[in-house]
Amino acid sequence: MATMLAHPPSIETLAPFRRSRECHTAVPAEIEGDIPGWLRGELVRTCPAVFDAAGWHARHWFDGLGMVYAFRIGEAGIGFRSRLLDSEAARDAWRGKARLGNYGTPTERPLWQRIVEPVPRMTDNDNVNIVRIGRDLVAMTEGSRQLVIDDATLAVDGAVRYAGDTLHGALMTAHPHFDAEQGKVVNVATEFGMHGTISVYEHAPDARRREVVGSWQPARIPYIHTFGLTPENAILVAHPFAVKTSKMLWSSKGYIDHFDWHPEEGTHLVVIDRASGAVREHVTEPFFAFHTVNAFERGDETVLDLLAYPDAGIVAALRVERMLAELPDLRPTLLRIVMRHGVARARVEKPGEAGFEFPATNYKRVNGRAYRYVYGAANWPDAGHAYASALVKTDLDTGQSTAFGDEPYVFGEPVFVARPHGESEDDGVLLTVGSARDAETSVLAVIDARTMTPIVRATVPSAIPLGFHGSFIH
Ligand SMILES: [Fe+2]
Repeated sequence: MATMLAHPPSIETLAPFRRSRECHTAVPAEIEGDIPGWLRGELVRTCPAVFDAAGWHARHWFDGLGMVYAFRIGEAGIGFRSRLLDSEAARDAWRGKARLGNYGTPTERPLWQRIVEPVPRMTDNDNVNIVRIGRDLVAMTEGSRQLVIDDATLAVDGAVRYAGDTLHGALMTAHPHFDAEQGKVVNVATEFGMHGTISVYEHAPDARRREVVGSWQPARIPYIHTFGLTPENAILVAHPFAVKTSKMLWSSKGYIDHFDWHPEEGTHLVVIDRASGAVREHVTEPFFAFHTVNAFERGDETVLDLLAYPDAGIVAALRVERMLAELPDLRPTLLRIVMRHGVARARVEKPGEAGFEFPATNYKRVNGRAYRYVYGAANWPDAGHAYASALVKTDLDTGQSTAFGDEPYVFGEPVFVARPHGESEDDGVLLTVGSARDAETSVLAVIDARTMTPIVRATVPSAIPLGFHGSFIH
């Protein structure tokens, strides 16, 4: 008797990556606790949501088709909405096509197209982050195309159009910085081709003309997910997970699948002076990092805090096939890298023991300055095929950490919202979304950032896949 081949299991059936149908119209949340009177606005977030469409399958967590969702906190309560991101990449995927460059999913392009276009256009599946840039709410991934999201409907309202400049087609990180004092958005863009260039650019929040303030041209381009920013410098983490860009020409592999690990080269810290464009380099032990936490100047030292993994194995651990077999451990180590002027070797300190991902700070108050508190989400595989989960707060002065957990839920990135005219650095709340492990529900938890105790739980009858980043929009 012929046996049917079993269809491979979909990650969409596995908590915390399950997805309910979209809610274009606000659904009221069931609320426990009292919402602080000053907390009014909207938490807007993105996540990879669709991993399997007709004849198309995401091979890496970062390639799931994006969904935008929002919790609006108002006088009448909390309303939840969600909408799949209508990108060119998503329209392709629903038709079984894979023409655009992806993070870790191969492209499928006819030979003639690979010849005339040696590097594919990169995806506009902007599922990594969503931030307010001037008047626009902007969804972004590590790509060249950012999408404007309509506040009222969460629908895509066209692409961000930067004025003609030298960075056309370059990949921007999905973690721009905001320098309120200088009135600048600052980001890093990588250009590929025969030789790669990494540039720091700036623009006013309402302008769309990118001014390059400094560039760096290494022999191998490191994978850059975030960077550090102080009033004086932008700091790139050139870990040894890098690519000779010529390898990408005519290739069908996913973007990240061209990168190799070269631990013998150590990690270089590239400090780019925002005023002069001058570049100075430091070197330290090899590690891999997605996320910087903060950076600041201290006398003749530049200090950068980041979350480090021992190597780039985490990138492969986030492949869908691997996650179906074993959930990845998202608990990198918090490291402090101290770079003294005139000393090539950077010093590494360990300011806390707790491991967590998706770092958050009281950004408006402390970014680019000496600071005391960092928050994050720690998810790790527990017995059986599920995550244990906690939100963590680390006091950098003492090294002590406190945590919040709510067993049925797996929590993602905390977003810090400062209490207006708050006194201490931690005077505010953390907003975090938890995906239920065993039910088709999710929770928005409002947590007192001083004590790490819950103030409000707002539950919605919708499974929200664990995702990456977002913003609180006032
Ligand atoms: Fe990120």
